[in-house]
Amino acid sequence: MAPLWVFCILVCCLFIRPSRFVLGLASSNVYIVYMGERQHSEAEQVQDSHHKMLAHVLGSKEAAEEAMLYSYKHGFSGFSAILSQSQAKLIADLPGVARVMPNRILSLQTTRSWDFLHMYPQMADGILSKGRSGAGSIIGVLDTGIWPESMSFREEGMATVPLRWNGICQEGEQFNKTNCNRKIIGARWYIKGYEAEFGKLNTSEGAEFLSPRDAVGHGTHTASTAAGALVENVSFMGLARGLARGGAPSAHIATYKICWATGGCSSADLLAAFDDAIHDGVDVLSASLGSSPPLPSYVDDTLAIGSFHAVARGISVVCSGGNSGPYPQTVINTAPWLITVGASTIDRAFPTTITLGNNRTLMGQALYTGKNVDKFYPIVYGEDIVAANSDESSARSCDFGSLNSTLAKGKAVLCFQSRSQRSATIAVQTVEDAEGVGMIFAKFPTKDVDLSTKIPCILVDFTIGTSILNYMEATKDPVVKFSGSRTVLGQQISPEVAVFSSRGPSSLSPSVLKPDIAAPGVNILAAWSPASSQSQVDPNTNLPLNFKIESGTSMSCPHVSGIVALLRTVHPDWSPAMIRSALITKASVKDTSGQRTVAEGAPHKPADAFDYGGGHVDPNRSLDPGLVFDTKTSDYVCFLCSLGYNDSAISSMTGTPTQCHSHSHSNCLKNLNQPSIVVPDLKQHVTISREVTNVGRTDSIYIARVEAPPGTHVKVKPPVLVFNSNVKTQKFRVSFQSLLRFQGRYSFGTLVWEDGKHRVRMPLAVRSVIDDFYAQT
Ligand SMILES: *[C@@H]1O[C@H](CO)[C@@H](O)[C@H](O)[C@H]1NC(C)=O
Ligand SMILES: *[C@@H]1O[C@H](CO)[C@@H](O)[C@H](O)[C@H]1NC(C)=O
Ligand SMILES: *[C@@H]1O[C@H](CO)[C@@H](O)[C@H](O)[C@H]1NC(C)=O
Ligand SMILES: *[C@@H]1O[C@H](CO)[C@@H](O)[C@H](O)[C@H]1NC(C)=O
Ligand SMILES: *[C@@H]1O[C@H](CO)[C@@H](O)[C@H](O)[C@H]1NC(C)=O
Ligand SMILES: *[C@@H]1O[C@H](CO)[C@@H](O)[C@H](O)[C@H]1NC(C)=O
Ligand SMILES: *[C@@H]1O[C@H](CO)[C@@H](O)[C@H](O)[C@H]1NC(C)=O
Repeated sequence: MAPLWVFCILVCCLFIRPSRFVLGLASSNVYIVYMGERQHSEAEQVQDSHHKMLAHVLGSKEAAEEAMLYSYKHGFSGFSAILSQSQAKLIADLPGVARVMPNRILSLQTTRSWDFLHMYPQMADGILSKGRSGAGSIIGVLDTGIWPESMSFREEGMATVPLRWNGICQEGEQFNKTNCNRKIIGARWYIKGYEAEFGKLNTSEGAEFLSPRDAVGHGTHTASTAAGALVENVSFMGLARGLARGGAPSAHIATYKICWATGGCSSADLLAAFDDAIHDGVDVLSASLGSSPPLPSYVDDTLAIGSFHAVARGISVVCSGGNSGPYPQTVINTAPWLITVGASTIDRAFPTTITLGNNRTLMGQALYTGKNVDKFYPIVYGEDIVAANSDESSARSCDFGSLNSTLAKGKAVLCFQSRSQRSATIAVQTVEDAEGVGMIFAKFPTKDVDLSTKIPCILVDFTIGTSILNYMEATKDPVVKFSGSRTVLGQQISPEVAVFSSRGPSSLSPSVLKPDIAAPGVNILAAWSPASSQSQVDPNTNLPLNFKIESGTSMSCPHVSGIVALLRTVHPDWSPAMIRSALITKASVKDTSGQRTVAEGAPHKPADAFDYGGGHVDPNRSLDPGLVFDTKTSDYVCFLCSLGYNDSAISSMTGTPTQCHSHSHSNCLKNLNQPSIVVPDLKQHVTISREVTNVGRTDSIYIARVEAPPGTHVKVKPPVLVFNSNVKTQKFRVSFQSLLRFQGRYSFGTLVWEDGKHRVRMPLAVRSVIDDFYAQT
C-alpha cells in the first residue's frame, strides 16, 4: 500500500534515473576516509597530510593527486578518493585512520504558507519584525544550486555582506561573480564524488551547468522558500496568486550545489559542502535531501557526521523527514542534533469543476488554466480502450502504453489509481501520448496536486470517480466538461499532516522522537529554474514559468530553516538545541477549526507525536518558550556511546578522541536531554531525567500537568519547578509504570509545564513490552 508514487512525483520525475540511484549504496569506487583528531591546526597542513597518506598507498604523488576528490580539513579531518577495494583496505589499516566507508547516494526528497503561519510583515509584535526578517543571518542551502536571476534573489533592500563571511562565489558554466549579490552571498558546487560514481555529466543543451546554476528547480525553490525576497503578484499560471516571500526575507543565502539533474547527490560531495559551510560561516543549514531506510548508522552517515560538526559549532541544521509516509518507521535524518521536518497541508485549495452530460457537477482538484476547458468532450474509461498488447488492469489505471490511441484520441479518459500505478504522473503522460484531451484520475483522497500538465488532469477521490463511472455506464454517449482551476483560501480545515510525510519512530534510535515538527509542504509556490526540464511554458504568455507549485518534505524543511534564522536573530545566544526545543515545545496541535490536528491518509486520525513530533510549527510562539531543553556536544557523544558504537568509530565521527568507558553512558540514551520522551520498551517501570533552562521571566514557578499515555501511570518529580536569579536550570524526573501486561503498541501523552504565561509541551510516547513475549510462542 506504500504510496511511493508521492515520493515519485517529487523525486523520480525530477530525476529520471536508473534504479541503482535509489538503492542508496552504489557499487562504489569512491571511499571516504576518516581520520582521528586533526593533527595540525593549519588547514593546509591537514590537507598535506592527506596527500602524503594517499601517495604512500598509491605509490606516487601524481597517482594520489589523481585519486583524491576532497580533503576535509575545516570541521573534521579526512578525505575522499577513488580507490580499489584492496587499496581501501590498506588505508583502513594505516595508523591515524579510524574508518573507511564507501560513498553513498542520497536523493532530494511561497506565497500562502507564511500568512497561514501568521507571519504577516506588517504585524509589529510578530516574529518577522522582531526577527528583523532575518537581517544579518546567513542560510546555507545544500541542494541543486540556484537560479540567480529569479526575482526572489534580488538584492534591493538587503544589508551588506556580513564581515564575518568567509565564503566565495565560485564561478562555472553560466555563473560568474556578478551572479552573487547581497542576497546570494556565497555559491559553490561539488561534482567530484558524483562523477567518480556515475561518470561525466552530460551538460549539452543546458541539461546541467557545471556551476552553482540550478538546472533542476529544486534548489531555487527551497532557497526562495527559506529566504526569498518579497515578490509581488506572483502566480503559477494565474493560480495561487499573491506576494511570494521567504521565511526570512532579509537573510542572506549561500548555495552549495551537491545534487545534479540526472541523479542524486553523492555523500562525498555532501561532506565537502558541510566542511566548507562550517568554514564559510553560515548560521543555518537547510538540507532537503536524504536516503530512504535502511538508515545508515550515525557514524556512517555523512549527513549525520557533517551536521554533528556544524551543530557543535553553533550552526542549526534543518532536514526533511522523507516522503515515505504514512507508514511507521519511515522517517529519515533522525540524529538528535538535527531538526527533522514533516510536511503539512495549508488552507489553500485548487477546486476544478467537472460537469457531466446530465448537467451534474462534481468537484476535483487540479493546477490547470490552459486549453480544452469549458467544452464537452466524450469520456471513456481506460479499461474500455485497452491497447492490443496490454491488459485491462493496466488500462484501468492508464499505465504506460496501455491505451489504444485510436480510441482515446480527442476524448477525456477516466483512470483509477491502482496498487502498481499510484501516480497520476504516468497516467496523464499516457493519456497525452494517446492524444486524449483530458483525464480524471480517481484516487484515495489527499490534498497534494503539484502536478502541472499540458491537458486538464483532474484529481478526484474514489467516491466521485465511482459516480462518474456509474454515469458513463448508464449513458449511451457520455460527455464531460472541465472548468479551469481556481484558487480558494481559508476554507479548508488545516493543517493536516500530509499523507506522504514520513512517520516515526526512528528505525535507528526509536528513543529519539522524530520527526521533530511539521511545516507547510503541500502545494507550495516558490521560485523555479526556467532551465529545468520540469519547467513549463505559460500557455498565455509563452514564457517559461519562474515559479512552481511543489509538494514534499523538501518544501517544509526550508520553511523551518527560515524560521530558525528569525529565531536566531532574536536569540543570538541560543544553541541549536535550544532553538530546536523552542520549536518543538511551542508547536501547535490544533487546526484552523480549533480541533486536534489530523493526519491525512490511511487512516485519517488525530495526529500523534510520530506524525509530527511536537506539532505544527508556530513561529511566533517559539520566540518565547519559557523553558528550553539544552543539549551539549558531550551529551551527543555519550548518546553515541550508548548506541554501542565503538571508540574509534565515535572518535572519527566527532573528530576528538572518545573513550566511552570514561562516560557512565548506560543512561545516556533515555536521559539525552530532548524536549520529548519516547520509551520504546517499557517493561514495568522506568525513570527518565531531563533538565530545563529558564529563558522566560527570572522569577517563575512552573507546575507539571500530565496527560499519561493510556495504559501507563506517569509521575513527575518534583511536580513544581522554581526559578529565580540564582536558579536558571532545574532537573526533573519522569517515571513511567506500565499498567498493561500485553505486548503493546505505542500510546501517546503529554507533559506540560505551566507558569501561567507559558505552556511548555513535551510529547510522550510509550510502548509496553513483555520480557518473554517471543519466548512464549
Ligand atoms: C506573538 O506572541 C506574543 C506572545 O508570545 C503575543 O503577545 C503576540 O500577540 C503574538 N503576535 C502575533 C502576531 O501572533
Ligand atoms: C558574467 O555573467 C553576466 C551574465 O550572466 C555577463 O553579462 C557578464 O559578461 C559575465 N562577466 C564575465 C566577466 O564573464
Ligand atoms: C547528451 O544529451 C544530448 C541532449 O540531451 C544528447 O543529444 C546527447 O546524445 C547526449 N550525449 C551523451 C554522450 O550522452
Ligand atoms: C497581477 O498580474 C496580473 C497578470 O500579470 C495582472 O492582470 C494584475 O493586474 C496584476 N495585479 C496587480 C495587483 O498588480
Ligand atoms: C444542461 O443545461 C443546459 C443549460 O443550462 C441545457 O441547455 C441542457 O438542456 C441541460 N441538459 C440536460 C441533459 O439537462
Ligand atoms: C485500436 O483499436 C482499433 C479499433 O478498435 C483497432 O483497429 C486497432 O488495432 C487497435 N490498436 C491497438 C494498438 O490496439
Ligand atoms: C568499530 O566499529 C566499526 C564498525 O562500526 C568496525 O568496522 C571497526 O572494526 C570497529 N573497531 C574496533 C576497534 O572494534
